[in-house]
Amino acid sequence: MIHRRLVRPALFRLDPERAHAMAIASLGVLARTPPVGALAERRFRVDDSRLSQELWGLRFPNPVGLAAGFDKQAHAVPAWANLGFGFAEIGTITAERQPGNPKPRVFRLVEERGLINRLGFNSDGADAVAERLRRWEQADRAHRIPLGINIGRTRVAEDAAADYVATFARVASFADYVTINVSSPNTPGLRDLQERNALETLVTRVGAANRVNGLQKPILVKIAPDLDQAALEAIVGIARDRGVDGLIVSNTTISRAGVASALADEAGGLSGAPLRDLSDDVLRRVNLLAGGLPIIGVGGIFSGADAWRKILAGASLVQVYTGFVYEGAGLPRRINEDLLQLCDQAGLRSLSDAVGQETAAPSGH
Ligand code: FNR
Repeated sequence: MIHRRLVRPALFRLDPERAHAMAIASLGVLARTPPVGALAERRFRVDDSRLSQELWGLRFPNPVGLAAGFDKQAHAVPAWANLGFGFAEIGTITAERQPGNPKPRVFRLVEERGLINRLGFNSDGADAVAERLRRWEQADRAHRIPLGINIGRTRVAEDAAADYVATFARVASFADYVTINVSSPNTPGLRDLQERNALETLVTRVGAANRVNGLQKPILVKIAPDLDQAALEAIVGIARDRGVDGLIVSNTTISRAGVASALADEAGGLSGAPLRDLSDDVLRRVNLLAGGLPIIGVGGIFSGADAWRKILAGASLVQVYTGFVYEGAGLPRRINEDLLQLCDQAGLRSLSDAVGQETAAPSGH
């Protein structure tokens, strides 16, 4: 209510990227002021063992995560637990510092509850972000909830796999899991890394770095929603063969199907409500191929019902970005409360029992 009446109108009068910078700056203050963080947490966190899951040896207190791209540079790490998230993904981080694309590069499609962005991995670079993560760790504030670190290719890198490995080597020790992002539409050629040979090389080399450094971090791959069935089969096949630990479905879309806004012509990735059905569909298809590999569902979640649909379609965990922009700080709590109610209505003892239920065999009825 406060968000819709006061915060959103004020922020939405500003350029989207400026509004985002202000939000991150405020959350950075929250993150560095533990008593205020604790107050926020009392308001926003839902504590209920039915929401809790263990995946990759990590305990997720609830399934609602912050999606990559919101806290790219790790400015507000502890704030995400304070706002009631069950996990948070930092990044995308690139090996070298780079500015991203010229501004403006983020657009609000308000009527459609969507965003288009072509940020192009603006990154402080792996060393600077690693230093920030080291400081959060020293203050013992980094891992109150599982922390994912999302890595992507530096624009000018010639050897993509070597570039990911360089970033991985610098930041992975701070992560509870690492996401290989091969699906942002704003770095030329990045999505080609989803192609069979390129992906095989990439996950093999990152996997080797993971073993050589003795890190043994869970490795996830984040995919685009714009892949056909053959491409999905190839990606999931490689993930299973090469020991990838999970998949994130999905990144933003390059499609503009059904979008009426005049801003639809802006180049970049579309997120939010217009992405929802497409990402649900890809999630469902990936789940059928995944053979039990855990999936994080992301794309167009604005409510508990949206999250529930993804969980039934096969997501163990979910993430939000655009919904958080439109709905505000109360969103994780609202989703978690609604999920508990949906669990009750379905007669389930815990949320994990709902994962993939949509495709499960009917039980004797
Ligand atoms: C993103 N997203 C994103 N994903 C990623 O892997 N690395 C990134 O750096 C970013 N950056 C980014 C910036 C902006 C402005 C947006 C809107 C999105 C994609 C994000 O994590 C998510 O996959 C999609 O936005 C779909 O989820 P929502 O936004 O519909 O909840």
